[in-house]
Amino acid sequence: MRRRLRRLRRSRNIRRLVAETRLAVEDLILPLFVTHGAKVREEIASMPGHARLSVDMLSPEVKEVESLGIPGVLLFGIPERKDALASGAYAPDGIVQQAVREIKRVAPDLLVITDVCLCEYTDHGHCGVIKDGEVDNDATLPLLQKTALSHAQAGADIVAPSDMMDGRVRAIRTALDDAGLVGVAIMSYAAKYCSSFYGPFREAAESAPAFGDRKAYQMAPPNRREALREVELDIAEGADIVMVKPALPYLDIISAVRAAFPVPLAAYNVSGEFAMIKAAGRLGWLDEKKAIFETLTAIKRAGADIIITYHAKEAARWLAQGEDPFS
Ligand code: PBG
Repeated sequence: MRRRLRRLRRSRNIRRLVAETRLAVEDLILPLFVTHGAKVREEIASMPGHARLSVDMLSPEVKEVESLGIPGVLLFGIPERKDALASGAYAPDGIVQQAVREIKRVAPDLLVITDVCLCEYTDHGHCGVIKDGEVDNDATLPLLQKTALSHAQAGADIVAPSDMMDGRVRAIRTALDDAGLVGVAIMSYAAKYCSSFYGPFREAAESAPAFGDRKAYQMAPPNRREALREVELDIAEGADIVMVKPALPYLDIISAVRAAFPVPLAAYNVSGEFAMIKAAGRLGWLDEKKAIFETLTAIKRAGADIIITYHAKEAARWLAQGEDPFS
């Protein structure tokens, strides 16, 4: 037997030496939920360790994120009032706009990415304007433009449209450029699937649709080629970074996008993926820390350059301590 693959597995240091994928704090982005009010910290039951924070509570949180070496945060807002046209999404003093200003005040170098979508701001919970019982694509685009523009004007470094309307990347790029905001980048949720794994998020963001579902705009889980078409279109329309979402059930899509396109690729390790590990960990059914490392490393191995994850802070802490469960 000349070929013995076990030779390279014999000791910790040899395993360290031949590791093909290394998770790093630079890969991680932490999502944050911002809500109205003062001194508010509402724990999210299905997302242990995560809470909705009011703007005045952001400072310690983002300073901690910065000190851990995490490059940026992704912001979601829960407005005080919702209406049919999602006016809270593009109000100059809306919740996300206030949060962006506050974060830029206390941690100017931390990257601020904003989720651009209407579902948290519409009274019906859909990601666009409703006409005749359907989400009207083209009537939604101007509202997404206004939303992205107001986030950028507040100081966002990157806007991240997650609505899945056709043509929104071009519409947003045009609006930003026309306003002279040429340096604000777009991270598009390019291949976003209609997934059951968004459940805990919808509780956290109060954004579950009041009727129907999102099948008429988010992608169908069985489709893979269609994801490549979505990504191709978004790049052509001006996306700087593209995203696949969710991550773990869609590793094949991450891998396919990585192989086909030379742009930075983000993967969103979504709320349901997070909740599954936390729940099983609490029950003692798996080793939580190892499961987290394995999950995040798998997402990177599949080809993601950027991992948006609710595990970002704990993973950053473990990485700083030199934890390496695989060697
Ligand atoms: C808004 C949006 C959703 C998520 C991110 N942006 C929910 C949805 O599409 O219903 C999900 C994130 C998560 O589950 O962690 N459209």
